[in-house]
Amino acid sequence: MKPKVLVTREVFYEVLEYLSQYFEVTSNQSDSLMEPGTLAVNLSDKEGALVTLSDRIDSTLLSCCPDLKAVCNIAVGYDNIDLDACTKARIMATNTPGVLDDTTGDFTWALILATARRLTEAESYLRSGQWDGWKLKQFLGMDVHHATLGIFGLGRIGQVVARRSIGFEMKVIYQDVRRAGPEIEQACRASFVDKNELLAQADIVSVHVPYSPATHHLIGKQELERMKPASVLINASRGGVVDDAALIESLRSGAIAAAGLDVFENEPKLHPGFLELKNVVLAPHIASSSKATRLKMAMLAAQNLVAALAGETPPNLLNPF
Ligand code: GLV
Repeated sequence: MKPKVLVTREVFYEVLEYLSQYFEVTSNQSDSLMEPGTLAVNLSDKEGALVTLSDRIDSTLLSCCPDLKAVCNIAVGYDNIDLDACTKARIMATNTPGVLDDTTGDFTWALILATARRLTEAESYLRSGQWDGWKLKQFLGMDVHHATLGIFGLGRIGQVVARRSIGFEMKVIYQDVRRAGPEIEQACRASFVDKNELLAQADIVSVHVPYSPATHHLIGKQELERMKPASVLINASRGGVVDDAALIESLRSGAIAAAGLDVFENEPKLHPGFLELKNVVLAPHIASSSKATRLKMAMLAAQNLVAALAGETPPNLLNPF
């Protein structure tokens, strides 16, 4: 008999076909988020699960799943998974690093350009029928070329963002818990600076760190106050890395000029303050969402699941035990 696995959300047909070669698959192609109780019931007789970043995998859930051996996230970030609880229950957890770096880096640039050049604000104005002709001072934005880009987190995605900036002839500065090696700094043309220097110098601050207790509100009131009034903040990493209430206050008061955001605290709920502001570009957590990349992410998660349940070490194991 094939092991039973659960796919918690809609995935591509190719992924289901691949999984079906190895497993008896139950899949939620209707794509509605399962409440914790429903997830527990669905997972109670399964050996493996393909999950998404919206599924919370914690000790309460795991205590309902005696047969579970592997939980494979379709995401590089895994703050939705309690790794210690998985390890205690001897359940392997995996993520999908590498395959989404370029796509997420591209989207970060979409946010940078749209935010600096006020694209969504200008489009709404045009769509609402208010445009009555060219004006010299209409939607004056900020130049991206030759500006200083400040990157928090020069990991895989941060590096892509930095490398893409070369075409815009920007100065790149970065801050990370560890300084990158000289080859990386050279390829990114990035200089290591401390946090306050970055905040004070950057015209564009872009955040590329995973969410954890250590990065909770990495950008809060104090940090926003240190940024230049003409600067913009970009977040395509995780909600919670930025203090949304403090950011809204800074955007309202003009402490910073604008923000481009793909992620939010408590998403999909948005802090209502964002919707009242014109100087923020908002996206629904789609930075990795190109067709090719989302397929690669789901396939990589599926390959992790196949390896884990075959008794092998999955390629992206997060909690070796
Ligand atoms: C997306 O946010 C991911 O972590 O892959």
